[in-house]
Amino acid sequence: MSKIHLLNEFQSIFKSTATPRTFFAPGRINLIGEHTDYNGGHVFPASISFGTYALAQTRDDQKLRFYSLNFPDSGIIEADLSDLTYNATHDWANFPKGMIKYMSESGFNISTGMDILFYGDIPNGAGLSSSASIEMVTGVLLEGLFDLVIDRVDMIKLGQKVENDYIGVNSGIMDQFAIGKGKLNHAILLNCQTLTYRYAPIELDDHAIMIINTNKQRTLAGSKYNERRTQCEQALAELQTELEIESLGDLTNVQFEQHKHLITDEINQKRAKHAVYENQRTLEALEKLEQGELTEFGRLMNESHKSLQYDYEVTGLELDTIVKAARDQPGVIGARMTGAGFGGCAIAIVEKDKIDSFKENVNKIYTEKIGYEASFYTAAIGDGAKEITKEMA
Ligand code: GLA
Repeated sequence: MSKIHLLNEFQSIFKSTATPRTFFAPGRINLIGEHTDYNGGHVFPASISFGTYALAQTRDDQKLRFYSLNFPDSGIIEADLSDLTYNATHDWANFPKGMIKYMSESGFNISTGMDILFYGDIPNGAGLSSSASIEMVTGVLLEGLFDLVIDRVDMIKLGQKVENDYIGVNSGIMDQFAIGKGKLNHAILLNCQTLTYRYAPIELDDHAIMIINTNKQRTLAGSKYNERRTQCEQALAELQTELEIESLGDLTNVQFEQHKHLITDEINQKRAKHAVYENQRTLEALEKLEQGELTEFGRLMNESHKSLQYDYEVTGLELDTIVKAARDQPGVIGARMTGAGFGGCAIAIVEKDKIDSFKENVNKIYTEKIGYEASFYTAAIGDGAKEITKEMA
C-alpha cells in the first residue's frame, strides 16, 4: 500500500487534515530454536519485510481512536487514556491499548490521546507474529510522538507483558525481540535466559528462504501453547529436585539423558527432551551456518521439525504434509515449521533457480492431500521496528 493511499485513508477515516507520522514493525520468522524461549534456551529468528504500518497523530484531548484497514468492519474503535483496561469489544485494538497502558504505567509520559491508523501485510493467522508486530509498532510510535527515551529491550519486555498479562497468552520473548531488534539481512541468536544476543549475517548465496503458509489459521490463545509451557515447568521442577538448574536451557543432551528418569510423566519427559535438544541444536546450527555448512544447517532444521512433530507435538497434518513435500523437492536443503506451530507457516531453504518448480510441486501435493492451497513468499530479512516517515516521503 502506498504512502499516499495510507495518508488519504487516515485523513478520510479520522476526518482530519493532519499529516501523521509513519511507523513500521516487521513480522518474524524463526530459523531454528522453537519453543525454547520460555525454557531459557536460545532462538534464532529474523525480522521480515512483511509487517505492520501505523500512521499516528496526537490529539488535543484524551481520546484514543484506532482503525485497522485489515478489519474495516470493526470501524473506528474508541477508548480513552483514563480507562485502558482490557475490553473484549475492543477486539484487535486491545494490543495497542495494552501497550499504551504498560508504557504509561512504567512512567513514560503519554500526555494526550491519538488517532492511529494500522495496516498490516503479514498474512493473518500465519504465525509470523502479527500481534507482536502491532505491539512493537505501538511502542515505537509512542516513543516517537512523545519523545520518550526508552531502552529497546525494556520496550520489548513491555510488549511481552501485553501478550502475557493483558491478552493472556503465556508466550516467551522471541517475537517481540526479533521484531524490536531486527537487522537487515541478519538473524539474531538470542539467549532467552540472559537476553544476551548477537547478529549473524544470513548469506545463502544461491539459496533463498521460502515461507510457506499452510493457510491453516492458528490463534495462540486457543491453542495448546499454554499447556506445553506448563508441561515444561512441571518437568523442570522435577529435575530441580536433584539438579541446580534455572531452566531446561541449562542442560546438555547428556545431562538430560542422565536425569530424565526424574520426570515422572512420560509426556512431560518428551516435552522437556525437545526443549533441551532443540536448544543445543540451535547453537550447533549457528556454528554450521557461520562455517558455511549450509547442508548441515538444513539437516538440523529437519531434525528440529521431527522433534516438534514427535516429542513436542505441535505440528499437525498440514505442517507435516507441507514440510515433507518441501523436503522431497530438488534443491531443498532443509524445511521446518516456524513459530508456535498448530498450523501457520513453514520455512524451507531452496535453491533460487528451483523456486518455481518448488512452489508448483509442493502446492500440488499439499492441495491434493489437504483440500486447499498453500501460499508461498520469498523471505526478505529487513530491519526491526522504527519510524519510517522520511522513507515513505
Ligand atoms: C510463539 C511465541 C514465542 C515462541 C514461539 C515458539 O511465536 O510467541 O514466544 O514461544 O511461539 O518458539
